[in-house]
Amino acid sequence: MSHPNSLPGLRGLDRASVESILDRAEVLLSVVDGDRSMEEVATERVDPAVVGLLFMEDSTRTRGSFEVAVHRLGHRPVTLVGRGSSASKGESLLDTAANLAAMGIDALVVRTGLSGGVACLAEALPLPVLNAGDGRHEHPTQGLLDASTLRASLGDLQGRRVAIVGDILNSRVARSGIHVLATLGAQIVLVGPPSLVPWRLVDVVPGARIEVSHDLDAVLEAVDAVMMLRIQRERDAGGSVASDYRNAFGMTEDRASRLAAGVPILHPGPVNRGVELDDGVLEDKSRSKVLDQVRRGVAVRMAILERALMRPGSRD
Ligand code: CP
Repeated sequence: MSHPNSLPGLRGLDRASVESILDRAEVLLSVVDGDRSMEEVATERVDPAVVGLLFMEDSTRTRGSFEVAVHRLGHRPVTLVGRGSSASKGESLLDTAANLAAMGIDALVVRTGLSGGVACLAEALPLPVLNAGDGRHEHPTQGLLDASTLRASLGDLQGRRVAIVGDILNSRVARSGIHVLATLGAQIVLVGPPSLVPWRLVDVVPGARIEVSHDLDAVLEAVDAVMMLRIQRERDAGGSVASDYRNAFGMTEDRASRLAAGVPILHPGPVNRGVELDDGVLEDKSRSKVLDQVRRGVAVRMAILERALMRPGSRD
């Protein structure tokens, strides 16, 4: 059975838990920004822990911000990546993770190309296992940091209409985004070419209001926020993407100018400049939240690590 503090995904996480994590991240953001010390915002004394970071796929933001979060909390990271570990000799993900667990680490953060792989590790190992992105399945800390960024721009997300645009088929960011936004009461519009928008996601959250559109221009003027997605070429999305993708689904400067005032534009990174976002949109600080997402990602991962490492019985 999975450790109670594991986080394989956002599916099934209730609204009170999501809001508790986001509220705690808001407090921890003051530590990230250097305005308060960890001692000032600590809720309980936690012994220094060792956190394993197992990244079998490349990462800049998730790995970097988990490492920063571990340090900010006063813990120590031990990082293993695919190339440079014995995975290159054929050792399985489960054996690699079990060996790290046998070294006595206190929690394990995992990125893997295997959809559902993190849930399997969480079932098999006796320690908290946190999903840092697994194949096309979920990327829960990204979903939470996106929700944190949207709340900072829009306040309560209940009834807000959020467009998720692009390669939804291959995107774990979209799946976690759908779960967390639906849990917080937002309306969701999935926008992209027919080859990249699976209709089955419309029913993925019972009771959620999820629409599909293949016409970005038709939804632009009626949304409160836009979450652009990266085209996942490493997951074979390239073959499904027309050469004029930018013209149909890119956030060009012209499209950004048609959004209502204050509508934030998010992107999980890395950005394919000139494809998903024009340079001018990415650099427009009045709309682009891309670096604020990264800043908030550290605070969200601190909140998730605190939750993972807290003493039994001290969960809210
Ligand atoms: N958003 C995101 O997961 O970025 P990285 O792949 O750089 O971690």
